[in-house]
Amino acid sequence: MGTPENPLPPARVELGRMLFFETRVSIDGTVGCVKCHQPFLYGTDGLPRAIGVKDRAGAHNAPTILNAAVQMAAHWTGNRKDVEDQAMQALIGPGAYGNPSYDAAMARINAIPGYRAMFEKAFPNEKDPVTPANWGKAIGAYERTLVSRSRFDAYLAGDAKALTTNEQSGLRKFIGTGCIACHNGVGIGGGMYQKFGVVEEYWNATASKTHDEGRFGVTKQPSDMYVFKVSSLRNVARTPPYFHDGSVASLPEAVKVMARVQLGKTLPDADTDDIVAFLNSLTGTLPKEFATVPELPPAAFQ
Ligand code: HEC
Ligand code: HEC
Repeated sequence: MGTPENPLPPARVELGRMLFFETRVSIDGTVGCVKCHQPFLYGTDGLPRAIGVKDRAGAHNAPTILNAAVQMAAHWTGNRKDVEDQAMQALIGPGAYGNPSYDAAMARINAIPGYRAMFEKAFPNEKDPVTPANWGKAIGAYERTLVSRSRFDAYLAGDAKALTTNEQSGLRKFIGTGCIACHNGVGIGGGMYQKFGVVEEYWNATASKTHDEGRFGVTKQPSDMYVFKVSSLRNVARTPPYFHDGSVASLPEAVKVMARVQLGKTLPDADTDDIVAFLNSLTGTLPKEFATVPELPPAAFQ
């Protein structure tokens, strides 16, 4: 997922991996990316809504970071340009790292002596490479390596036996029901914004207690009311609970909600089961560099 603008030099990726697992840059030492994007939960935290520093509850469910960089933008409302921008702004997010300023965050990194040399190696020829932008670039470079290939990819590459009969039937129903109007492209989603609740208000089906304005909060355009980024469905079977507010606990239920509020259809159980079987085939292998932990540089007092 590297690009000319965001290349993946190994020293940068390795630094980004450490920073991803690093919790000492948050104000109470409890929060790093890994807190909410845990390897054993496929890059999520398993909670309806994330919990940041000082146990502060956030507004949204934590999506997976696996394959996240293929999407057109980051966050449910697309209010972060890309994974680099996302990682940088997390430093000062009150419900994330909680730093009062970027300077305060950089001071925390500089307090761990080992990091400066690694930033210098990852960003050669820069006079002071320990910057918020480079924190974002390093973590972003690491995230751009987190590709998880699935059996569906093998199927698309021509291995017809990669999907079971059930899963193939589910794929046909996924297409036939109309899910692919929105969940398409390399991420099977992640490529456009759409209203959540095209046919009827989404909270009728999800029982959400709050009614999130979605992208309206970012653009203030009336047409963006209740509009969200179409979720990428890669690894979706491993990332409950579902939707921006984590309001739906199970995948069969989430599929029924989608059919109802996006397409005005009541899905019979058999069709739901097949579509869920297909969605299971989108589960990929965890990248080794995510499934294992890096060794972090010791604190100054050690
Ligand atoms: C306190 C929990 C928490 C922490 C810490 C956290 N995240 Fe997240 N992450 C979330 C939540 C919640 C969202 C969705 C936010 C939204 O849409 O408003 C998210 C969204 C994302 C996304 C966008 C995914 C998508 O599909 O749009 C990426 C990428 C990401 N986080 C990476 C990171 C990285 C890298 C870090 C560390 C610098 C980090 N996160 C720290 C909870 C967290
Ligand atoms: C009109 C566009 C559209 C159609 C059609 C559509 N979806 Fe969605 N889908 C979305 C949007 C937008 C979201 C994000 C909703 C939110 O804010 O939580 C989403 C979210 C999801 C989620 C939750 C993902 C997660 O990680 O929480 C699943 C599962 C899903 N869709 C499956 C389907 C299935 C299966 C179908 C066909 C029955 C379908 N969708 C049809 C737009 C669509």
